[in-house]
Amino acid sequence: MRRKLAAGNWKMNGLVDDLREIKALTDAHPDPDVDLLICAPATLIAQMAWARGTHALQIGGQTCHADRSGAHTGDISAPMLRDAGASHVIVGHSERRADHGETDADVAAQAAAAHGAGLVAVICIGETLDQREAGDALSVVTSQLTGSLPASATAANTVIAYEPVWAIGTGKVPTTDQIGEVHGTLRAVLRDLMKQASSVRVLYGGSVKASNAGEIFAVPDVDGALVGGASLTAADFSPIITALENA
Ligand code: 13P
Repeated sequence: MRRKLAAGNWKMNGLVDDLREIKALTDAHPDPDVDLLICAPATLIAQMAWARGTHALQIGGQTCHADRSGAHTGDISAPMLRDAGASHVIVGHSERRADHGETDADVAAQAAAAHGAGLVAVICIGETLDQREAGDALSVVTSQLTGSLPASATAANTVIAYEPVWAIGTGKVPTTDQIGEVHGTLRAVLRDLMKQASSVRVLYGGSVKASNAGEIFAVPDVDGALVGGASLTAADFSPIITALENA
């Protein structure tokens, strides 16, 4: 019912030379059985859109401002991302929440702006290690999801990514039971918040690699992954895509 999604987040990585990885990736997966998305640094979106040619690879930004335009030096609006060739945008990544103090309300406003520009918002949530150790993981993600989901959210324009902060870039991954517990909770929360909840895709993110992708993708309610480091090269990302196709 839900088409699976393999999404890469290049974060603050990638120069024009690295677009060869897009060519290698699209050559390796000419007709993928899952949706493919790379969220590129803003500087590469237009060139990546050109590099993908007619391939189904989708391209996203990594954040957007809540306003359509205006005096916000250095910021990028959702219509600008769309204009550059993006169809998606990540909002509320924990690195944005930590580095830029973004709150759930900010994230909800950004997601609404994405929807207004015709973009799919990939809304990120996830607990810190302290919150997990205190037994608060489920209440934290419930409150983040409730606060970060705008009224404009539908199954077609919204993807949720559960990314425990302590698993990002650390090589640490929750157990499959822990992932399943959170994803099950998020699905139930979505049912309370919106109509098409059973069609919304919920991704897992945090140290996903070829070696652990298969077991993560076997967890019920995991509809794909948001991959950081292992999305930067076709050699690393390709086996993750294959694992998702085989899940
Ligand atoms: P890593 O896959 O590098 O842990 O990053 C995950 C992430 O933050 C994706 O948004």
